[in-house]
Amino acid sequence: MHRFQHITICAALLFLGLGATCSRAETGADAWLRYAPLDKSAAQKYSALPASVVMFGDSPVLDSAKAEMIRGIQGMLARTLREDKNLSRKPVIILGTLSALRADSPKLFEQADLHDDGFLLATEKFHGVDCLIVTATTDRGVLYGVFALLSKIAREESVSALHETQQPSAPIRWVDDWDNLDGRIERGYAGPSIFFENSNVRADLTRAGEYARLLASIGINGCAINNVNANPRVLEDSFLPQLARVADVFRPWGVRLSISVDVSSPKVIGGLDTFDPADPRVAEWWKKKFDELYALIPDFAGVVVKADSEGRLGPATYGRTPADAANVIARALAPHRGIVFYRAFVYNHHLDWTNPKNDRARAAYDNFHPLDGKFDDNVIIQIKHGPIDFQVREPVSPLFSGLEKTNEAIELQVTQEYTGQQRHLCFLAPMWKEVLDFDMHAGEQPSPVKDIVAGKTFHCAMGGLVAVVNVGMDANWLGHPLAMANLYGYGRLAWNPNLDSQTIAEEWTRLSFGNDPTVVQTISGMLLASWPIYESYTGPLGAGTLTDIVGAHFGPGVESSERNGWGQWHRADHDGVGMDRTAATGTGYVDQYRAPVAKMYESLSTTPDELLLFFHHVPYTYVLHSGKTVIQQIYDSHYAGAEQAANLVQQWRMMKGRVDEERYAEVLKRLEFQAGHAIVWRDAVCNWFFQISGIPDKLGRVGHYPGRIEAEAMQLQGYVPFEVVPRETASGGKAVECAPPMQKCSASFHFDGAAGKYEVDVEYFDQNNGKSKFRVLVGDKVVDEWIADDHLPATKPGGDSSTRRQIPGVALRPGDNIRVEGIPDGEEHAALDYIELYPSPK
Ligand code: GCU
Repeated sequence: MHRFQHITICAALLFLGLGATCSRAETGADAWLRYAPLDKSAAQKYSALPASVVMFGDSPVLDSAKAEMIRGIQGMLARTLREDKNLSRKPVIILGTLSALRADSPKLFEQADLHDDGFLLATEKFHGVDCLIVTATTDRGVLYGVFALLSKIAREESVSALHETQQPSAPIRWVDDWDNLDGRIERGYAGPSIFFENSNVRADLTRAGEYARLLASIGINGCAINNVNANPRVLEDSFLPQLARVADVFRPWGVRLSISVDVSSPKVIGGLDTFDPADPRVAEWWKKKFDELYALIPDFAGVVVKADSEGRLGPATYGRTPADAANVIARALAPHRGIVFYRAFVYNHHLDWTNPKNDRARAAYDNFHPLDGKFDDNVIIQIKHGPIDFQVREPVSPLFSGLEKTNEAIELQVTQEYTGQQRHLCFLAPMWKEVLDFDMHAGEQPSPVKDIVAGKTFHCAMGGLVAVVNVGMDANWLGHPLAMANLYGYGRLAWNPNLDSQTIAEEWTRLSFGNDPTVVQTISGMLLASWPIYESYTGPLGAGTLTDIVGAHFGPGVESSERNGWGQWHRADHDGVGMDRTAATGTGYVDQYRAPVAKMYESLSTTPDELLLFFHHVPYTYVLHSGKTVIQQIYDSHYAGAEQAANLVQQWRMMKGRVDEERYAEVLKRLEFQAGHAIVWRDAVCNWFFQISGIPDKLGRVGHYPGRIEAEAMQLQGYVPFEVVPRETASGGKAVECAPPMQKCSASFHFDGAAGKYEVDVEYFDQNNGKSKFRVLVGDKVVDEWIADDHLPATKPGGDSSTRRQIPGVALRPGDNIRVEGIPDGEEHAALDYIELYPSPK
């Protein structure tokens, strides 16, 4: 059916009160701005809404506000708002800045306390007529007010007696997208760049404009569009007009353009023989460059800088400091009111791992605390929320309380680099809430991170929040349809960090999937449970995400962090695990916190269990506050987590028929993958710790897998066993592969259980360098076949590629021959790990 037709029929059904049977075909492109038709009774709540809209003022942003208002009401209430130029005696919706409205009605909202991008929604008499007024001090505030009003209607909140002021918590609410000019995205998991292709800005920037609209709807006012590992070309003269095209599509949504710049640009593209920030020629180069840029983009917001980090050049080349580098750029931007985000993610990735005093977690504070007060006013230090790198659990960076005379922003990560890459469900608002609410004890008064970055604690003029987002060309922006809850959640928390996660999850669910109470309760419940679930099978007790840190950061790779210079060490050995970061015996990192916080983390007894291994090295038999030993907690949490991941699939199945088929199917596919991958994680981590500690699981699970038949123990024809590296990422350390010259192989065994229906789970390896085919037969009957054509980040068998195929309800009798056939393709050798059989649930 044509999509439009479907929507029309759907709207009619909804109007007749048959909403529960009707769901729209959805790609996810509309995200939380679906403006889906409300059902009849809900729509009635808004019957008194004025029939026309009057706009005071004229600007691209106000035009967007008006158009959005009309679009939203049209979608949700099937009413076309009239655009009136003047007021009449009839109620209207009024949009305009307070100053524009006061030019007409000087005493309007005399008590209003509006500033920055804050807005006021009010039902109020204007010239004696009842009106619904959306006003603010800026055009952008008016736009935000319109989005807030429409959100209320979409969530079926009353708008009949409004008087609500909303003020953003901080002036800076930005996103960074790590897009490369060639169109690929660093740590992006949803298709190519919406900004760049083939080393240029895209010819068609429709998606970039749509992205800006989404950002505006959650109050985001700036966006840096290229990788922090910046290509100097972005500042070439010929490239600047291309950037101006992006600024043009952002502008109507009040989103200001920013770019990441490479500090070596004056040398690499500027023709100078140096990029020393102290060299006057370098200062002059930056000045000229930004004069040129601002001539093209007068509202350009500023730049992001990553330097002296992970191989990027920086001021250290000339013995200069981050302050020297930040200020030379800041001074060139200052006349245009541009700002510099200088990232505190500066560390040495060639640390000597044999020195127990070395500690990457110390780096941000060690590098930046001594420079406090040395940065210009238009410099903001952008600090990752934790001292390492977006791990599933980290303490808050001590640098937040280490800079009193310097603007700060917190950097969060919407793109789930270390938290499942949008293959796993992991709603991060609860994690961010913990960070933002954490009291740094930086003075007499409580000083939560949210106040520090808003500039309140240390009275800084600027500050705020930044999130790395990395949307892509995939229709639904982030790959997993539920992952957009993270972008929404980030925006909501940047606007108001006092919101609680449940409110955010429910808001998002209502906007994205409608107001059916079962849907709202189920999906928001799944979101809220998802971070603890992900944590429990990937990274125990603050040890960090136990992923392959030198690879894709996706599947398990417990040992990859050790014995190298990257400094993400968990220091697990035969006797114990954890980094000793105490002042007494460890790296001294703990002392970077203010005294009350340092005191808490210094002592084993007051360190919370979930961060124990971040701060302390303990024996596996150490007893946690929970009463369990460390090793048993590692086993138990991984088993519980994998079970809960499987449970997410069951919860989602209840959504069938209550949400649209498209998103239902896509989410189901991803949750099923997650449930299988959680088992891969569980087994890898538990086996690794069992091997190294030698301490068995009290419940006898680790190393014992009833119903599991290893591929290498089957009868093989053509398939050859091989060792998987690292060994914990395959069951028993081994799998079988069908390597050239073989063109088809098989692995078979005889079923020796009782007759009945069984779930047959096949664990195989799906690499991105081939599309092998698999067939499963019972006797001569094919019970399933599929092509391993997923795009997982893996070119070899291991934790990144291990995938589970579930074949439900297979009838088996004793003696049945079960056979898996594999046909390799390209570099992918149809590798197989094991089969697991268990009775189908009744
Ligand atoms: C992580 C990430 C990199 C990124 C870096 C950064 O290390 O894996 O891809 O460049 O963070 O934030 O600069």
